[in-house]
Amino acid sequence: MHSGPRANLFTTCTVTKKTIHTLELGGRRLFVRVDFNVPIRDGVIGDDTRIRAALPTLSYALERGATLVLGSHLGRPKGTVNQELSLRPVADRLAELLDRPVVFADDCIGEAVQTALGQVGAGRVVLLENLRFHAGEEANDREFAKALAAPVDGYVNDAFGAAHRAHASTVGIVNHVQDAAAGLLMARELRYLGGLLRSPSRPFVAILGGAKVSGKMEVIENLLGRVDALLIGGAMAYTFFKARGLPVGRSLVEDTLIDATRQIERAAAEHGVRLELPSDHIVTPRLEAGAPCETLAVDDPAIGDRLGVDIGPETARRYADSIAAAKTVVWNGPMGVFEIESFAAGTMAVAHAVANSEARTIVGGGDSVAAIGRAGVGDRITHISTGGGASLELLGGRRLPGIDVLPDAGEGTD
Ligand code: 3PG
Repeated sequence: MHSGPRANLFTTCTVTKKTIHTLELGGRRLFVRVDFNVPIRDGVIGDDTRIRAALPTLSYALERGATLVLGSHLGRPKGTVNQELSLRPVADRLAELLDRPVVFADDCIGEAVQTALGQVGAGRVVLLENLRFHAGEEANDREFAKALAAPVDGYVNDAFGAAHRAHASTVGIVNHVQDAAAGLLMARELRYLGGLLRSPSRPFVAILGGAKVSGKMEVIENLLGRVDALLIGGAMAYTFFKARGLPVGRSLVEDTLIDATRQIERAAAEHGVRLELPSDHIVTPRLEAGAPCETLAVDDPAIGDRLGVDIGPETARRYADSIAAAKTVVWNGPMGVFEIESFAAGTMAVAHAVANSEARTIVGGGDSVAAIGRAGVGDRITHISTGGGASLELLGGRRLPGIDVLPDAGEGTD
């Protein structure tokens, strides 16, 4: 999953990238890489957040007279055409949101694009079919990148969610256009996830949850050197518990990472970081709605062969207190299996605590963003990242190829 070398200190973001503000736009054709990888079922879009997030860049370019060729992936069709992963429903939604016609091109290269551009009229927006219907996209194939660039002369990358992928539309294409820049969403993501984390107001508290320690290892290592407190929740806490000799029942444990969690605890102590783990939890015999559940202290052997599915109320209160005292808060990963109502209280409590905090708050990762939506507090978060894997890689200190490849801002240009 990791796509680039690790950097010491958010290196990707220590350099300011040229943004769309610096491009000549009037009368030009721009390829805008967007991340319209949205949930679609039976042609109906379940959540249009990512489409809305691209609107500032699209409107900015349209108002200045550019014609836009928009490219995105949807799902992982692995180089074959799969109509269930067609972007056609997104064209309709985008037309509504932009309040102008959007011409859909049945393919992302070749004649279909020329035909669409011929029909574009005053609307000036073409949405290309799923880039990943061609194997050349993920292979970052030179000829495919060239074909993507053929109808345009400029390139803007606003797909933060795909910036950790070194694909033709995020990397290769840059070699075949006159100029390239970051879009406004990309710039905003970098400002918050890069800039703010580089010089946070303190106390700086990170809350990490989700199923596995393995997916967050680099993030933990990278954050240990910069946060004041790290609050751990979700199933990943159980690997820490097992390492401490606590009873974990049938909870999810990554046995191969038990030593790694001990090292994390030692490193936290060395850095003077408060590493907080749950002190109570919700346990259940079955991972299903309606299953009985009980609150136990984490050292209570009464867990038996049940499994832990949420942080308990005492932990939620403790975490809320730490969040309330913070000046910068980053949250990635739920505290429990919040998709099931009876296991959602801990995650909802953290969502409300983050929303109520006066700190600068940054939430990333699909599940925590969904939890914020479910708690109805999205408008009280400083920045909700549109990137799942990309935000994790950035928090893990990795360089993102889709950002690295963009030109640096020249003096006085931005
Ligand atoms: C995402 O949903 O995180 C991005 O769109 C990237 O998708 P991918 O993991 O399929 O590359």
